[in-house]
Amino acid sequence: MPEYKTVKVNVGKGYDVLIGGGLLSDCGGLIAGAVGKCRAAVITDSNVEKLYLKTVLDSLKTADIDAVSFTFPAGEENKNISVLSDILEFMAENRLGRGDIVIALGGGVTGDMAGFAAAVYLRGVRYVQLPTTLLAAVDSSVGGKTAIDLTRGKNLAGAFKQPETVICDTDTLKTLSPYQMSNGMAEAIKTGVLFDRNLFCMFDGDVSGERLESVIEQCVRYKGHIVEIDEKERNERRLLNLGHTIGHAIEKCSEYKMGHGHAVAAGMAMICRAGEKLGVTEPGTAEAVCDTLRRFDLPTNTDYNTGDLVSAALSDKKRSGGTITFVVPERIGKCVLTTEPVEALGRYIELGKDK
Ligand code: GLY
Repeated sequence: MPEYKTVKVNVGKGYDVLIGGGLLSDCGGLIAGAVGKCRAAVITDSNVEKLYLKTVLDSLKTADIDAVSFTFPAGEENKNISVLSDILEFMAENRLGRGDIVIALGGGVTGDMAGFAAAVYLRGVRYVQLPTTLLAAVDSSVGGKTAIDLTRGKNLAGAFKQPETVICDTDTLKTLSPYQMSNGMAEAIKTGVLFDRNLFCMFDGDVSGERLESVIEQCVRYKGHIVEIDEKERNERRLLNLGHTIGHAIEKCSEYKMGHGHAVAAGMAMICRAGEKLGVTEPGTAEAVCDTLRRFDLPTNTDYNTGDLVSAALSDKKRSGGTITFVVPERIGKCVLTTEPVEALGRYIELGKDK
């Protein structure tokens, strides 16, 4: 068995996030240890299928877990009700029972959709996350948010459903494109801006190998802690939306051609700039954040016009009534929630633009 780090997330009965190289080859034994004897439906996409499905199925077989697999076409545009329905029908056809499990093998799209399938199939079966992108490793595979997109926007239907375990094989990150790596780096940098200047400073150097594992471990620890104190995003968990209000608007304006992390990076840079102009954010923060984002080829601004961004943001589900909550850095490592009338959104965007 390869070496790995373990982060415990104490929500409900609690679960372990395992982080290390080579774990997919041993995932069967690790999953059996977490969930006991059962059958499994492995859900993956057409990219990840080619790379890792066989390794996972072989390992499940060795651990005596009888598994079936379902592959959907890769891409955010497939995180929809039609593919979810296909997954549910597949599970029913294969007579998955209440004691059986769903295994999400892939990035954020797969984790969100397979997790949602697990949340609703037979009124809820257990599931396991096997993240294969940096974005899924540092953010979406932990914390139990599951969802599909609706025509009106991203993640508009979903459930909170914690996994039984998360097994992050860091070797899978070696096959990611530079764009996909940057996409995940944005969420990791976000964690540094939110909670920890030392973590933020780790992005000054080369982030690979041991250093990348340490970054993932720290991001999972911070996220796990926030989810422990506010699983359903009523208070502190909203901090994790740093850069997301403007970021989601950019993502939507790009018709989801821009990666989530890239859009969040631009949103984060813009809220830092706006925060400085409003006297909330320590001067120099925006420059430091932008310098770090640029090191990973992440955007720090947007050309979309403010009116289009406001319209896109106001269909975001995180708006409640006539107010909108922004996450604003006071300095690197410390952010605050600020609730404003929705009319303030245009002003924040204008102040955030680097003109
Ligand atoms: N990605 C933000 C959260 O899980 O709350």
